[in-house]
Order: sequence, then structure tokens, then C-alpha cells
Amino acid sequence: MLEVSNLHVSYGQSEVIHGVDIHAGKNEILAIMGRNGMGKTTLFKSLIGILPTGEGTIRVDGKDITAAESFQRVASGIAYVPQGRMIFPTLSVQENIETGMEVSRLKRIPDDIFALFPVLHEMRHRKGGNLSGGQQQQLAIARALVTNPKVLLLDEPTEGIQPSIIKDIANILNEIRQLRDLTIVVSEQVLSFTLAIADRLVVIDKGNFIHEDTRENVDTEKISRYLSV
Ligand SMILES: Nc1ncnc2c1ncn2[C@@H]1O[C@H](COP(=O)(O)OP(=O)(O)O)[C@@H](O)[C@H]1O
Ligand SMILES: [Mg+2]
Repeated sequence: MLEVSNLHVSYGQSEVIHGVDIHAGKNEILAIMGRNGMGKTTLFKSLIGILPTGEGTIRVDGKDITAAESFQRVASGIAYVPQGRMIFPTLSVQENIETGMEVSRLKRIPDDIFALFPVLHEMRHRKGGNLSGGQQQQLAIARALVTNPKVLLLDEPTEGIQPSIIKDIANILNEIRQLRDLTIVVSEQVLSFTLAIADRLVVIDKGNFIHEDTRENVDTEKISRYLSV
């Protein structure tokens, strides 16, 4: 569903992603684990088209989107929940979700969105900025889901969220995978979270993938070592 080969991404002269390959199948959840500064956000921004791709190709469901603008990528089925969530603080919850609906041409927010996120229904008239971190994360996921993605990218969804709520987010992602035919690629530093959702875990280190495990055969000690400073 998501097929990335030999992706290189640079800021000016400085290359940060040095030729990574990603193959994520239908209904698969892939976790990209790495410490701060290893290139997770750079990778995701390049996949969604906020940063230009230096070299390599990106395919979604067989379609080459390497040269496409961000909005075209979204229309092709790739959605992005940015690090820090980036919801619109002065828009209501409902309006925040509706910003994602232009692409999918939905007239109203589908019922299954509020079924997944009852708290967003309760708070639909509140300003996004007045929600807690965990609620804002749910809002950012809902906004991405209404674009009807085939591939959902989540950049450090647990950052700044308290442990009890982290479990809720994991449950929601597992539920989303069950309800929709969706490939999820999530970047993270919290191993307990990715162990609760991911089928496969890769470790990114200074812009290279250096380790990969399936969840059944995961070497938690090794991955923890990569994640500790
Ligand atoms: N706008 C930028 N300009 C130049 N270098 C950047 C920029 N953003 C990030 N970097 C560098 O790219 C590397 C990877 O950063 P980032 O992708 O944010 O990592 P992560 O998301 O894993 O914490 C770091 O060395 C960081 O300093
Ligand atoms: Mg980051």
C-alpha cells in the first residue's frame, strides 16, 4: 500500500534521510522508532510532500506520487497527523474536522468518526485550543481520517500525552485498523505504545533504518537501547 524506495531528503546541502525503503502492506501497522533528531519528522514531511524528495520514489496503492503536491497526495490516499498535532486552536472541533473534508467531498462528518471519538462529539462546538493534549490528538486523527486515507501517517502521537491516555490512543488505532482497510505508519519513541499496535518495528538512526523486527520476534532490549540516549 505504501512503497518507498531509496528516499533521500535534505535541508539545503545537508542530507538527513539517506536512502530509506518502506514497504507497508494493507492493514499493516508499521512503527518507526528513533530518538530525537534521527529524522522521523523529516521522513514524514517528505512523504506528505511538505519537504521535497531529493532522490527516490514514493508509491501509494501502486500510484507514483513522488512529484505530486501535498493536496494531490492527500487525494491519492495518504494522510498525515503532524507532530504536535497542529490543530486550529480558534476553530471549533467540528470545524477542525471539516478542514479535512474538502478532499473527500463529504457533506457532513460521518457517524463512524464520532463513534470512534465520542469525546469529539461531546465537544464538537468547543474551540480546538481548549481541548486537552489527548483530545487534540484524537481531533488530529479524526481530521486525517475524513480524507478517507489508504495510508495514515502519525508523527509521534504520544508526545506530551499522559500514560493513561496513551493507552486510549493505542486502542483507538487498533479499532481504526479493524474498521477500515488502512495502512498505518507511526513514528515513536515510546516502545510500550508501539508494542500495543505495531505488526513491525524498524529503528531509524541518523537517517538510516538500522534494525527491523516483527512484533512476534521483537527484541525489546535491543530497541530500548537504540532509544536510550
Ligand atoms: N528545518 C530544518 N533545517 C535544517 N535541519 C533540520 C531542519 N529540521 C530538522 N533538521 C535536522 O534534521 C535532523 C532530523 O530531524 P527530525 O526529522 O526533526 O528528527 P526527529 O523527528 O526524529 O526528532 C536533525 O539533525 C535536525 O537538526
Ligand atoms: Mg520529530
